[in-house]
Amino acid sequence: MTINEVIKKGIYELKENNIDEPTLKLRMLVSSVLNKPKEFIMAHGEYVLDNSQEKDVMEKIEKIKENIPIQYIINNQEFMKLNFYIDENVLIPRSDTEILVEEIINTYENKRVKILDLCTGSGCIAISLKKYIPNAEVYASDVSKSALEVAKINAKRNDTEIKFVISNLFNDIINKNFDIIVSNPPYIKTKIIDTLSKEVQKEPKIALDGGIDGLFFYRKIIKEGYEYLAHGGMIFLEIGYDQKQELIDIIKEDKRYKFIESKKDLGDNDRIIVIRKE
Ligand SMILES: C[S@@+](CC[C@H](N)C(=O)[O-])C[C@H]1O[C@@H](n2cnc3c(N)ncnc32)[C@H](O)[C@@H]1O
Repeated sequence: MTINEVIKKGIYELKENNIDEPTLKLRMLVSSVLNKPKEFIMAHGEYVLDNSQEKDVMEKIEKIKENIPIQYIINNQEFMKLNFYIDENVLIPRSDTEILVEEIINTYENKRVKILDLCTGSGCIAISLKKYIPNAEVYASDVSKSALEVAKINAKRNDTEIKFVISNLFNDIINKNFDIIVSNPPYIKTKIIDTLSKEVQKEPKIALDGGIDGLFFYRKIIKEGYEYLAHGGMIFLEIGYDQKQELIDIIKEDKRYKFIESKKDLGDNDRIIVIRKE
């Protein structure tokens, strides 16, 4: 079959199974199986797949039909124009999280800063920061050993030096005096998780579950992070679209921080907050 034929057949099957964005997923899949860029797939519809490539595509279409996210099938996701290995052990990096990373890069470009990325998952935040702020000393931690294995693969793939620590939040973080603590922690309310899309439910529950009110990790990071920050150190947090006011209340109650700013994502939702140790 040609690229066009295989994509047409795939789109038909995915539509039959009510799978979202069938064209996009098929292009990503064929591009991965042929190991060619998406531009090639779009421009060379008459290119003929060999038998093993065709079989591979067909088998992977079956996985898409089971609501397995395409990123887990092709083991890949782009983030901050870098390439990340992704599997079922980690959250799939989201474009919303790029806002968090860009904010830090814009503020600290060329500076010698010490950064801790808590709840690193695939390592996408820590690795992008090291790549775009090469003078930074970057630590990354996660409680999940298998997530850290993925993050280590990604540090190597992107040729970055990151200090990895396995730790339940701050429990095993020995270093202090961080200029920046950054985190995209789990922040979904426990009871909401079952209502999320079937694809999101294939992501690790440990990466999603933010406790009864979704704020468990923020409270701990804000409370315990203080003693890990240098004087004037900053905390950058990704937040859920409806969590800004609750976060501001937590910070006010704590009294040891100054609220610096919040930023919205491209969909006009509140997405990050920045606070400073006073
Ligand atoms: C929302 S994901 C974020 C992953 C990645 N930083 C990103 O932005 O794509 C949250 C991560 O927190 C980790 N995590 C959950 N509980 C934790 C804990 N108690 N201590 C440290 N990490 C934890 C999960 O393993 C998961 O990798």
